[in-house]
Amino acid sequence: MPSVVKINVLSVPEDQRETLEKRFSSRAGTVENSDGFEWFELLRPVEGTDQYLVYTRWRDEESFQAWMEGPMKAAHQGGGEGGERPRPAASGSTLWSFEVVQQAAPKKG
Ligand code: HEM
Repeated sequence: MPSVVKINVLSVPEDQRETLEKRFSSRAGTVENSDGFEWFELLRPVEGTDQYLVYTRWRDEESFQAWMEGPMKAAHQGGGEGGERPRPAASGSTLWSFEVVQQAAPKKG
């Protein structure tokens, strides 16, 4: 079974970029402990787009769905204890889904 890639595409106004990156710096860090989680990257746009990508890779669709239904919600509370969720830094988001068809890593030695 191929891994699945889930990319959350975030539209972020120029003046909110720093806020967004700071929020990811203090992200919950719980996704790492989720069953079936394989990879995460926050990608800052440089050329060709002005949207940030939150790249995640999962063993299978079920693992991603389980994360979405549980830990995902807590991981998106903004990290503050008790307080209100801060105003979102992103003005919009779209979820992209892919299956990994091929992959390669450098050969060792
Ligand atoms: C509703 C639209 C969404 C917005 C605006 C958004 C934005 C954010 C922000 C600002 C953070 C940093 C933590 C925080 O301040 O909450 C975060 C964390 C994260 N987001 Fe989203 N997000 C959204 C939905 C999603 C979806 C659908 C995915 C699936 C790929 C995703 C993947 C992640 C991951 C993996 C983290 C890190 C969680 C951790 O460290 O445990 N997000 N998101």
